[in-house]
Amino acid sequence: MTSKDQAGSDRLELVVGRRKLCFPATWLRDNCPCAQCQDPVSGQKFADITDIPGDLIITGIEEAGESVVLTYAPDQHRSGFSRRWLAEHALDGYRDGDGRTEDDKELWLPADLDRGPQASWPRYLAEPADRARTLDAVLRWGFVLLHDVPTEPGMVLEVAASFGFVFDVRVQPAPGNLAFTSRAILPHTDNPYRDPVPTVQLLHCLSTAENGGDTGLVDGFAAAAALRARDAGAFDVLTRTAVPFGYIDKETELWASQPLIQLSPRGRIRGVRFNNRSARPLRLPYAEVAAFYPAYRRWAGLLAQPERQLNLRLAAGDCLVFDNTRILHARTAFSVTPGSPGRHLQGCYADLDGLASTLAVLRRPGNYEHKEES
Ligand code: FE2
Repeated sequence: MTSKDQAGSDRLELVVGRRKLCFPATWLRDNCPCAQCQDPVSGQKFADITDIPGDLIITGIEEAGESVVLTYAPDQHRSGFSRRWLAEHALDGYRDGDGRTEDDKELWLPADLDRGPQASWPRYLAEPADRARTLDAVLRWGFVLLHDVPTEPGMVLEVAASFGFVFDVRVQPAPGNLAFTSRAILPHTDNPYRDPVPTVQLLHCLSTAENGGDTGLVDGFAAAAALRARDAGAFDVLTRTAVPFGYIDKETELWASQPLIQLSPRGRIRGVRFNNRSARPLRLPYAEVAAFYPAYRRWAGLLAQPERQLNLRLAAGDCLVFDNTRILHARTAFSVTPGSPGRHLQGCYADLDGLASTLAVLRRPGNYEHKEES
C-alpha cells in the first residue's frame, strides 16, 4: 500500500525491514512526541485522551529516510515518528508486562537449582555488576542469599535501603504470634491481610539456634503452574475466590480479601497468597464455598510436597532477600538453650518495583562494564 492510498485512513500501515506494521491513528496521535503533546524531558503527555478528536483520521503521510510525518484531520496536527521507534513499538505482541508474571521468571524445584542464587554483601557494595546480578536473581529466581552481612542489629535496613525505598518496617508483633515462638511454621507468604502485600521480604540472621530453625523456600509460581496443568478447575476456583485475611492486635487492624492465586489481565500467574494462620471465615454463597475447599486442599497439598521445598540453613551474617508475592517461606522448629543468644533473625519489607528500578538504573549504559559473568 502506498502512502497515497492511505490518506484519509484511520490507521497507518508501513513496512519496516520484513515486518508489516499497523497502528491506529488515535494510538499514534496519543503518542505524538511533538513538544505540544509531550514534555520533552519527562515524556509525560500534556493532553488527555478526550482531547483527541473522536473522528481522527490520517490525511497525509510524508516518508523520508528514517522519518515518517503524519498529518491528521480534522485539526491538521502533525506528528513526526522515526521508523525505528515505530518498529520498537510494533503492535504485534504482548509487551506491556511489568516483569512480574510467570513469563519473566525461572520457575524452579529445588532439584533445578545448583546452590541457589548467592552473593557476598561486601562485593555487592563494591561492585555494581555484582549488585545487578544479585538484584536480578530476586526478580528471576524469586530470592537471593546474601552472605557476610555484619551481625549488627539494624543491618537488614541497610540491605533494604540499598535497592530502593523501605516502607513499612514493621515492629515485631506482640508475643503470642506464632512467628515469635520456637515452633515450626509451614510454607506461607507474609502479611496476606495487607493489600498490596509487602512484595520483598528480607530476613537477616544475627545468630542461629543450636538445633533446628532451618529455612525452607517454595516457588509458588511453579506450584501454581503445576496446579493449572493437573487440575485446571481447582486453579480456576482459586483465581476467582476472594479469601478474607485479617490481623488484629492492640495497634493494628488489617483486612484484605484476595484470591490465593492472582492472575495478570492476560491470565498469567502474577502472585500467590498462602497463610492459613491469618485466613478468616469465607462468607460466600454455599456453592462457592463448597467448590473452594477441595481446590484449596489440592493447592495446599502441592505446596507441601517435600520435593518443592528448598532447605537452607541461614548462618549468622546471611541475609535472605525474596519475592513475597511468589516465594513461600517456612522454618523448622528449633531448640531454645538457656544462656545462649539463640535464633535471632531481623526482618523487614521493601518493594519489588523499587528493586527493579535500582536494577534498571544500574544497567543503564556506562553505569558498569557489562563483562561476561563467570
Ligand atoms: Fe513469615
